[in-house]
Amino acid sequence: METIERIYNQSEKWAVVLADCDEERGKESEKKLNERFGESRAIFVKTDVSNIDEFENAFNETIKHYDHVDILINNAGILDDSIWEREISVNLNGNIHGLILGMEKFLKTYRQSEEAVIVNISSVCGIECYGFLPVYCSIKLAIIGMTRAWGCPAHYEDSKIRVICLSPGATDTPMMQNLEPVRLIAGHYANTRAGCGSRGAGTNNKVRQKRKRLDR
Ligand SMILES: NC(=O)c1ccc[n+]([C@@H]2O[C@H](COP(=O)([O-])OP(=O)(O)OC[C@H]3O[C@@H](n4cnc5c(N)ncnc54)[C@H](O)[C@@H]3O)[C@@H](O)[C@H]2O)c1
Repeated sequence: METIERIYNQSEKWAVVLADCDEERGKESEKKLNERFGESRAIFVKTDVSNIDEFENAFNETIKHYDHVDILINNAGILDDSIWEREISVNLNGNIHGLILGMEKFLKTYRQSEEAVIVNISSVCGIECYGFLPVYCSIKLAIIGMTRAWGCPAHYEDSKIRVICLSPGATDTPMMQNLEPVRLIAGHYANTRAGCGSRGAGTNNKVRQKRKRLDR
């Protein structure tokens, strides 16, 4: 909400499109934003980002309502390595769908100013690569990679679309509530729960001992 408020305060022209698969929370947020910031400043479009047609529909609705699109925030995500194929579909494919649609069509064609921006949401998990969340960490590392590749100077010179990435640390959001070890890909990965990332700092004793055994 604070981020959106900052966007609204930049200009009366700005509007926000909430493209999310959660219809109940999406509609509630749409109502709250319109009540607080004025009629028609937000719309909700039910979207599963893992489906490129639905993602494209969200862009089409944006253009239908507001004529323009200047910023895409690739925010949708789940954290559940026990359903890793779905995690890849949403977090990785979804992000790629946003980049393809944004770079090749919508931000290229429908932006209002000279530049447009795509913000990918990675995570500290993409930097540290924690052992207890192997798939989630791999995806978040890939998001850093795709930001560097799609955001390279040659693409920017051509598209004038800045592709940037944020890697937040643990934040108290619905994603982090009810996060049970059972959601991890397999029980024994939870042993590294107290440990740290690939650089080894803080790695727990069990893992250190196992590494020693393997080194011999
Ligand atoms: N909370 C954290 O500690 C943390 C840390 C680093 C990065 N992140 C990343 O931040 C982003 C936002 O997460 P959050 O913490 O605000 O959690 P959140 O659960 O509040 O938000 C995620 C949103 O994605 C939506 N979503 C899930 N699957 C979708 C799909 N298939 N299509 C469209 N929408 C879908 C959910 O409905 C939800 O509204 C995620 O990419 C997450 O990986 C979160």
